[in-house]
Amino acid sequence: MAGTCVVGLQWGDEAKGKIVDLLGDTFDLVVRYNGGANAGHTVVVGGKTFKLSLLPTGVIRPNVTSVIGNGVVVYPPRFVEEVGQLAKAGIDLSNGLVLSDHAHVIFPYHMEEERLAESGTEGKIGTTGRGIGPCYQDKVGRRFGVRVGELLRPDHLRERLGQIVPFKNRLMAAFANGHADTLKAFDPAAVADEYLGYAEQLRPYVADTSRLLQDAVKAGKRVLFEAAQGSLLDVDHGTYPYVTSSSSLPSGIWGGSGLPAKHVTRVIGVVKAYTTRVGRGPFPTELDDGPDGTGERIRRVGREYGTVTGRPRRCGWFDAVAVRYTAALAGADEITVMLLDVLSGLPELRLCVAYDLDGDRRTHFPSDAYELERCKPVYETLPGWGEDITAARTLSDLPAAARRYLDRVSELVGLPAAVVSVGPDREQTIRV
Ligand code: IMP
Repeated sequence: MAGTCVVGLQWGDEAKGKIVDLLGDTFDLVVRYNGGANAGHTVVVGGKTFKLSLLPTGVIRPNVTSVIGNGVVVYPPRFVEEVGQLAKAGIDLSNGLVLSDHAHVIFPYHMEEERLAESGTEGKIGTTGRGIGPCYQDKVGRRFGVRVGELLRPDHLRERLGQIVPFKNRLMAAFANGHADTLKAFDPAAVADEYLGYAEQLRPYVADTSRLLQDAVKAGKRVLFEAAQGSLLDVDHGTYPYVTSSSSLPSGIWGGSGLPAKHVTRVIGVVKAYTTRVGRGPFPTELDDGPDGTGERIRRVGREYGTVTGRPRRCGWFDAVAVRYTAALAGADEITVMLLDVLSGLPELRLCVAYDLDGDRRTHFPSDAYELERCKPVYETLPGWGEDITAARTLSDLPAAARRYLDRVSELVGLPAAVVSVGPDREQTIRV
């Protein structure tokens, strides 16, 4: 088996990192193919905690080559910082980390463009502010996109930034509407100087990662793809326009890594036992029920605050309609159910089995976020359990109500639950 993909089937933050960790030494390469430093993940190694957002979670495994594929958008200061953080802890990445020369580069003006776009109320998405959207816009627009490989050619970079930056300054001034007082103007030479400094630190890692991956597969190596964000944030199939700007589904692998999809033979769909979402956009099962409500309780017990932005995550019941939709798009073979322990102590649990749209019962996810906004969840209610389940290691250790809940989730999604997580530690895991 050459390729496995670990992908979130909700709106991100499904604790995919723990699943990658559990896969242990079953792969030789770990690859990110989408997104950028908007994907926060916390990795604990030998009692030390690392907060990463750009490097893959698997980067801390010895004997594993980590690849940042061409589909990723890279913010060089963040790359340098994360590599430095790991180096300080004695994790040597000089042979184990490779960055695609085709990955696009995020510049400070991308963040400024995003700040301006998000500072009004119209068209606001609730982004992470990391310059992701504007960088992908430049990539697809072609005239202003800069790839990592171009950072390594000083004269070329200076010339390109000499054209791009003045244009961006004019564009932002026109766009500033009401924010002109705080508008930053960028100096092409200063941006070039700063980025040429990063370029020297990036240089040892830069390579043609598509070829590297193709050769690795030919040599029988096993590859793990880490999808960033969640499937409902996929730019094509998610709740557009409230999505990220990349293909977070496994469909992004071919384009974002250069490895043909036929090499991906296993897709592990990761879900929480409930649902969360950060940023704006429809969320039918959201529990917006006040400071003493269930939504707040899930947030508190599950520590549902964004890793990148610290924003409180919106919390709600498990939505089987949404997960059935993403599981089909992802081609998931199995699901892993995370954070089941967070639901302990709730007297009853709800599962969304359908939507009500203007009196019509729908069991399919609408293809349009505006329609989804009008959908009301149709719930099935199951009994909860009062016991602490964090010490459970087999299904039979779980209370009957927890087993019943899992069975129903699996039945509604139409996939077996291969792993159930009952706590953050590696040991707090039930392998079914
Ligand atoms: P962007 O990716 O920063 O452009 O943000 C677009 C949307 O995706 C916003 O709703 C963000 O909150 C959300 N988002 C981006 N990255 C993540 C993530 O890693 N986890 C959860 N939500 C994310």
